[in-house]
This record gives sequence, structure tokens and C-alpha cells, in this order.
Amino acid sequence: MNTLPSQINQRFAQDVEEGLSLQLKKLPSKYFYDKKGDELFVKIMHCEEYYPTDCELEILKEQSTQIIQACELPKDRINVIELGAGDGLKTRELLKALVQQRIETRYMPVDISANAVEGLVSKLKREIPQVETSGQVGDYFEILNEVNARSERAKLILFLGSTIGNMMDEVAHGFVRAIAENMKENDRLLIGFDLKKEPDIVRAAYNDKEGYTRAFNMNLLERINHELGGNFDLNKFKHYPVYNPQTGTAKSYLISLCDQEVYIEALQKTFSFEAWESIHTEISQKYSKSGIEAIAKASGLQIEQTFLDQRAYFADVLFKKLST
Ligand SMILES: C[S@@+](CC[C@H](N)C(=O)[O-])C[C@H]1O[C@@H](n2cnc3c(N)ncnc32)[C@H](O)[C@@H]1O
Repeated sequence: MNTLPSQINQRFAQDVEEGLSLQLKKLPSKYFYDKKGDELFVKIMHCEEYYPTDCELEILKEQSTQIIQACELPKDRINVIELGAGDGLKTRELLKALVQQRIETRYMPVDISANAVEGLVSKLKREIPQVETSGQVGDYFEILNEVNARSERAKLILFLGSTIGNMMDEVAHGFVRAIAENMKENDRLLIGFDLKKEPDIVRAAYNDKEGYTRAFNMNLLERINHELGGNFDLNKFKHYPVYNPQTGTAKSYLISLCDQEVYIEALQKTFSFEAWESIHTEISQKYSKSGIEAIAKASGLQIEQTFLDQRAYFADVLFKKLST
């Protein structure tokens, strides 16, 4: 029986085939985010254990005015471009502060999830109509140059929510370098970094009691089932998060509970799993001060100012281009 949807996301199919064919299996975390994944991520953000959202919200609620001041943006017109905007909950605080300061702002949220972009754009048009908002759906790795080159106005580029932590070090360095290459003297980049802290606090954030993070990870297998005609049995996998305090890396795995085979119709392929074999699904890097400085150095950027929450769990770091 054909269980495939009429349109297959070929990129998704290709990435799944590549990831599940590796000796150490993995799946890219960007595929967490479909409509269900977006909803689960919002639930995670509001979980007691998931501190990053509260911390960054506190920074943006209480320090947006200082952030705008530190940006030294031209007073008249600016573009705010946000990479991986999600539901834009925290960004709204910054946009409201820009409106209060009468800075004419165009806001462009970019996200791989069409659902997230559509929801955010319609919400902002209602809530902050003074800001001209237009969204862009796509992979920020692929559309970075295009988005950056779009305007003559000074830009404030946002990469919030510790999304940078979802990248391995060398990928994060390359990504920030690519952003920096497109920045001009007046442009600024604000990145949200989750900082190293008491390891138990970090570990709990990826293992919430309600099981939302588990469901978020499992949603990857559900997506493969729905979109690529897979036959993953979710009861035969376990979500397993770990944190390594030495590297500052939190990782999530889905672990096969038995020997099993999974068929994926879109790939016309069967994948074998041995008992206790894992699929690596997510990385969430926690940063030290020196780790953040290394990113700046590798990208030709300088740190303009660092904004911390009260507990110093999280940092929004403002970068500008290194003057030559
Ligand atoms: C950790 S969430 C952060 C969301 C939001 N910035 C916040 O602070 O709450 C990551 C966001 O990046 C998006 N995303 C992940 N990978 C992406 C990619 N390669 N290209 C564009 N968006 C991506 C996801 O859809 C999600 O909305």
C-alpha cells in the first residue's frame, strides 16, 4: 500500500538516508520543526526546567534599551533580520523598544518552519503594526547571503535562543564567519549563548518531567513515518539526553531498545538497528567566555557588549565588525 504524501521533501529524504546510513547514526535537528515540533518547542520553552527562555526573556525585557544604545544604530531606519526566529516571543521586547525610541524598523524573521514564520508575521502585524514585518521561509545556511544583501539600511542581525548551540564548533564558527563577511561597519550581530553552569541544571533542561523534550525528539521519527512513509515503532526507541561538563555539550539520542528493521518507502530502503544502537539527534553547546571570544576571533568580529541575566546563566552578546 502506498502511504506516501503526494509531495516528498527530497532534501529531507536525502538527509535521512545519509544520516541513517552512517556507522554512528544521526538525524539533523533542523527537522524537529514542523507544526507539531514548533508546538512542542513552545511547550519546552515554558517548562520549569528549561531556563534559557526565561533568562533571555529577562535580558530582552530589562535591557533592550541598553542593547539598542550599544548598537549605535542610525536613528532613522534600520533592518532587523532574525535567523531561526521561531515564535519571536523574546524579539517582541526588542521590537517594542525600537518603536518606543521611534526608530523606523523593518523586521525580517527567517525560519525553516513555514508554520513558525506565518504565525509570527501575522501576530506581529496585529501586535506591533509600526514595524514593517515580512518573513522568509528557508534554511538560513542557504539564504544567508541573499537575506543580508537585501538592503542598504543598517542591519541588526539576531541569532537568539541559543540556536548557535545546535551547531558543532566548526559549523558555528563557519556560520558566524559567513554572517560577518556580509556585515558592514554599521551593522551589528546579537547572538544568544547558553553559558556553562551547574551540570544538573543543564541536564534537567533536556529531560523535562512532562516529557515534552522526549516527544520533540520522537517527532523526528514521526515525521519520517508521515512524510517519507517510514514504519518506525516509537515504543521501540528511548530518548536519552546526556551532558558532558568538560566539553559543555548536551546531546540527545534516540536509542533502539531491540534488534529491529525500519523500512522507509520514499527511499525504498530498510535500515537495521541493533539493540542499544543510538541515533544522535541534537547537540546543545554551553559556552564559556573564552569560547565566545574564539567565535569572535575566528569571524573577524569584536565583542561590543555582553548582556547577562541576573543568574548569569545566559548571555546575549553584541558583535560588530573588527575595524581594520
Ligand atoms: C532553538 S529554536 C529558537 C527559536 C527562537 N530564536 C527563540 O529564541 O525562541 C531554533 C529555531 O531555528 C529554526 N531553525 C533550525 N534550523 C534552521 C535552519 N537550518 N534554517 C532556518 N531555521 C532553522 C527552528 O525552526 C526554530 O524556530
